[in-house]
Amino acid sequence: MEHEFWNQLDDLIMHTQVIIDRPAGQGHPSYPEMVYPVDYGYLIQTTSSDGEGIDLFRGSDSGQLLNGLVCTLDLQKQESEIKLLVGCTAEEQNKVVQFLRNHGMPALLIKRDENPLSWLLSRRSVRRFTKKNVPSVLVEKILEAAIQAPSAHNRQPARFVVIQKIETKRRLAEAMGGEFLQDLLQDGVPEAEAKGIVGRSRQRITEAPTVILVCLESGSLDEYPDQKRQVAEYKMAVQGVAMSAENLLLAAHTLGLGAVWLCAPLFTPETVGKTLCLPDSWEPQGLILLGYPEKYPKGRPRRSIAEVTRFD
Ligand SMILES: Cc1cc2nc3c(=O)[nH]c(=O)nc-3n(C[C@H](O)[C@H](O)[C@H](O)COP(=O)(O)O)c2cc1C
Repeated sequence: MEHEFWNQLDDLIMHTQVIIDRPAGQGHPSYPEMVYPVDYGYLIQTTSSDGEGIDLFRGSDSGQLLNGLVCTLDLQKQESEIKLLVGCTAEEQNKVVQFLRNHGMPALLIKRDENPLSWLLSRRSVRRFTKKNVPSVLVEKILEAAIQAPSAHNRQPARFVVIQKIETKRRLAEAMGGEFLQDLLQDGVPEAEAKGIVGRSRQRITEAPTVILVCLESGSLDEYPDQKRQVAEYKMAVQGVAMSAENLLLAAHTLGLGAVWLCAPLFTPETVGKTLCLPDSWEPQGLILLGYPEKYPKGRPRRSIAEVTRFD
């Protein structure tokens, strides 16, 4: 994993003395016109590919965190090595790369992702997919992530139905749509409008390359003599299923796929059960549409941490 590489370099820097032998603003002893833009030195008792210590540029950023590294190629010496960038602001990082390039060393900057959570934070609900099928090997990887989710007493209440056949998708969309239409008409939505909404909902399901129905296996619940604990047990199972579903969404995102959770089956559990011939104990919770994103949506606004958190 990428972050492990950076973490291990952090460790090395933290436990190794840094020797700065070319301070910022000073020229190279043999090439005085080569003036260092930031401090330059090496990590003592380490060995790089030139047999010397691992080189390091140290910038002015007080955090002194490892920001990345530069791969260099010295064509005169026929040598290539890495140079670490520590505490370098974005401007200093660019200056270092320019400095190396200006002195005949092709240099490639490999930036460390400043926020290791950025991949997680960039997940969005994807509702439009290309026609490309999702390879079975990826579906399996996603399910592997789903079954690793935590669950109360490790009961693992989540169950999945992976639907790829178009006839099954159509049957399911048709059956759920019928009930959805009745609900909308009962709410007083004009018939034409209601049919339009249901039509779009059916289309989304039938056009998604892969559809995964997420269920709660009620037989996996512990039994209690009192209602209070039984209700808590059921809630824990719902929470466990939701955690599996979130793992599933994040795994899809990690693999370059898009996904969205649809709540429709929760409103039509019997119809879904009958249509897919599910065991009675499999309670439908949600439907995940999965595929390659046609368009990646913009992030939706979130409440601030201060609004949703109390620090005591
Ligand atoms: C339990 C649950 C039910 C959802 N149901 C639907 C749904 O029926 N239709 C839909 O388009 N999105 C549905 N979503 C997706 C949410 O609308 C979406 O997560 C939210 O707007 C935040 O957007 P983001 O996921 O892109 O960050 C559901 C999400 C959850 C967790």
